Amino acid sequence: MTTPIYYVNAEPHLGHAYTTIVGDALTRWHRLLGDEVMYLTGTDEHGLKIQQAAEEAGTTPQAFADEIAPKFAAAWERLDIAYDDFIRTTEPRHYKAVEEILQRCYDAGDIELDTFAGKYCVSCEEYYSDDELITIDGVPDCCPIHRRPVEYFEEENYFFRLSRFEDRLLDWYAQHPTAMKPEHRGNEALGLIKGGLRDFSISRTSLKWGVPLPWDPNHVTYVWFDALTNYLTAVGFGDGTEGYEKWWPVDYHLIGKDIVRQHCVYWPAMLMSAGIDPPKGWAIGGWLLVDNEKMSKTSGNVVNPLDLIDDIGLDGFRYYVLADTAYGNDGDFTYDGLVARYNADLANNLGNLAARVATVVGKKCGGVGTAPNPDSALAAVAATAVEDTTRWWDEVQPSRALDASWQLVRATNAHLEANEPWKADPGPEVDAVMGDALEALRIVAILASPAIPSTAQAVWERIGQTGAVTDQRVPADTAWGGYQPGADVIKGAPLFPRLKA
Ligand code: ME8
Ligand code: MG
Repeated sequence: MTTPIYYVNAEPHLGHAYTTIVGDALTRWHRLLGDEVMYLTGTDEHGLKIQQAAEEAGTTPQAFADEIAPKFAAAWERLDIAYDDFIRTTEPRHYKAVEEILQRCYDAGDIELDTFAGKYCVSCEEYYSDDELITIDGVPDCCPIHRRPVEYFEEENYFFRLSRFEDRLLDWYAQHPTAMKPEHRGNEALGLIKGGLRDFSISRTSLKWGVPLPWDPNHVTYVWFDALTNYLTAVGFGDGTEGYEKWWPVDYHLIGKDIVRQHCVYWPAMLMSAGIDPPKGWAIGGWLLVDNEKMSKTSGNVVNPLDLIDDIGLDGFRYYVLADTAYGNDGDFTYDGLVARYNADLANNLGNLAARVATVVGKKCGGVGTAPNPDSALAAVAATAVEDTTRWWDEVQPSRALDASWQLVRATNAHLEANEPWKADPGPEVDAVMGDALEALRIVAILASPAIPSTAQAVWERIGQTGAVTDQRVPADTAWGGYQPGADVIKGAPLFPRLKA
């Protein structure tokens, strides 16, 4: 599982956190299924964009990258991201991998010297054709993603013969129709290929900040060719280590819709040229927007995720990011939306359920967990929740997966309201109702753990279960009846204190 490697031209923002949290939750979900997962993230440090940012800051690109890269790592630590490796493209291991793939494509005859003139967006590190550019406020030739004027560049450089791969790519995608998720984003990528492919330049002489071409060191490698290769570097390609055999091809590249061309068109073609298997899958996310505009360093409308955690708590923030936007679609970030989502699903629903279960068990069951009823009406709800949660994670739809898990939270609150155990006298009936609720909470804790890892563990412990919630397995441990009664049930402080709108 991989995230994009983020440019180090500025500090991490909510948009980067979004993709990284989705990948983290998906990684954790697969670990619950018993899959062994390597989750990779890192930083993209070469190219004109970084060189320019360093110049503006009055420093060298290397010093600039050295300052920013650890801020990404620190943000991911703070967001509880379970990554296994953090790659930086300035590392020696990465140079080796870039040289290796370049040489393979060159030897295959797919890289050739040519001249090129065209319009270039430095923010995208990408050439654009005239028909792709847009006019903004009367200013012609603006980048459709960054909404700023492009620059005219003319260079003699090496080209990757992408145009030769049109049929091979279309054939490959025809044989792997669900490789790109969700489908509507995959169709956009197919549209790019069907629209005709242009060769792209893979080297620069106007720039020194990059990996020199092995056969012509006056040229440095184009930053995208360099950056994409990170996914191979991290599993030991070019190093002769075993990781490559074990981990390649990758199951999921998580990417935003802004970098589909590079990941779904350039990258598989580069791999085919080098005699390497294409990825097994891509999960393509939409953008988080602020006032209808993409949140980006270039627009300067960024929200710092770490500030939001201070207000809403780590798991509240993670939950919001995963639950509020259907992956693949654009989402609107607003502070009011964040608070509303938190209050509805976490404070009033899961948090309230956990608190009221502990209160009633305290008052009516001597504070000790009771056994669920094997024939409870909630058993079928739980089975459906497990099934639907599994299906939606498989489709890389975290918002739908969480909604499926929350069906059990809602049904359990309704079950309590229908039975009103708080009004009944202690006895076997109350014990069974509370046993059902404890069992439902146990299953919810497992299902929700990819999204809200520390709160899920807290629920697990409060209902008297031992060990780590992350050591549970789906579906074996989410079958109805697994709750271990007899342990103390602890109320504790509210898991999700209600926030003022
Ligand atoms: O493109 N909403 O890096 P980058 C949602 N270095 N996701 C967003 C977002 C937003 N407003 N803004 C950014 C690069 N992202 C290259 C990648 S990979 C070999 C090289 C996320 O720093 C989204 O995943 O511009 C997007 O694709 C990625 O950050 C781009 O980050
Ligand atoms: Mg970008």
